[in-house]
Amino acid sequence: MKIIAYGIRDDEMPYLKQWSKDKGIEVKAVAALLDESTVDQAKGYDGAVVYQQKPYTASVLDKLASFGIKSLSLRNVGVDNVDADAIKRNDIKVTNVPAYSPSAIAELAVTQLMRLLRQTNTFDRKIAHGDLRWAPTIAKELDQMTVGVIATGRIGRKVINICRGFGAKIIGYDVYHNPELEKDGIYVDTLDELYAKADVITVHSPATKENEHMLNDAAFGKMKDGVFIINAARGVLVDTDALIRALDSGKVAGAALDVYEDEVGIFNTDFGSFDAIPDERLKNLIKRENVLVTPHVAFYTETAVKNMVQYALNSNVNLIEKGSDDSQVKF
Ligand code: COI
Repeated sequence: MKIIAYGIRDDEMPYLKQWSKDKGIEVKAVAALLDESTVDQAKGYDGAVVYQQKPYTASVLDKLASFGIKSLSLRNVGVDNVDADAIKRNDIKVTNVPAYSPSAIAELAVTQLMRLLRQTNTFDRKIAHGDLRWAPTIAKELDQMTVGVIATGRIGRKVINICRGFGAKIIGYDVYHNPELEKDGIYVDTLDELYAKADVITVHSPATKENEHMLNDAAFGKMKDGVFIINAARGVLVDTDALIRALDSGKVAGAALDVYEDEVGIFNTDFGSFDAIPDERLKNLIKRENVLVTPHVAFYTETAVKNMVQYALNSNVNLIEKGSDDSQVKF
């Protein structure tokens, strides 16, 4: 059995090599992403392991299938950039890694929330200028706040546990109710109810056609004045222009964004200087003291990266050998 792994970064290499040695399975690591220019390298392999934020296009998937590769394993959780029609048409089996480390995402989300509440960004800037005064940079306590969690899957539940540790009151919204959380009575019936009651709103949903720009002008309008917004899920969940308007008006008191709707090609790139970042809207957000932008790094921990590589390879072997895997994605 031979597997090709695309988009392998230096930090993934030790985990890939270890897995290959332990399992005695050949894995060809390719630094480039899977696209039109690299897909031919997959000829002769039994399966492909991939990670990238740019689209897996129909023509690339058609080519993979024409080489007999019907086992595709994503090293990440989101599948919103996979052409579903091409997957179905070619009968390609796809796996993702649904839980490489929910803690990785949840810990960053809450870290950034706490940074917003304690205004550490403002203190960092003041201190850099020799201003060691307290006022007017007075903080809020999470202990006194209601945190509204949109989507209570694995990541949402980690966020809930961490926020409970801080003493926050939790409310949650999800189409699927987790039985334990249901018993705790945390669920509200509608998003509008969550918007009306939460002091902090943190989104943990996958991106679908239905929830694109769910946090838009109308949604912000239903929220409490001075709400804090956390998005470590998918950029498209937030209408960026509406968020900027809500920050300008003070409706939103602060936002932590680990994702951004136009992040592909921008995040994980070194532009050399702030001015050289080719996205004015993003720069507008980064410049604000009450907005914390991180370049989609919530997943980027040693534990998560190891799991992403090794779980995806295990799944790929299952697809190749058995034609199925627990992490198979339905399209
Ligand atoms: C995902 O797992 O879908 C993510 O968003 C993390 C990715 C940047 C590796």
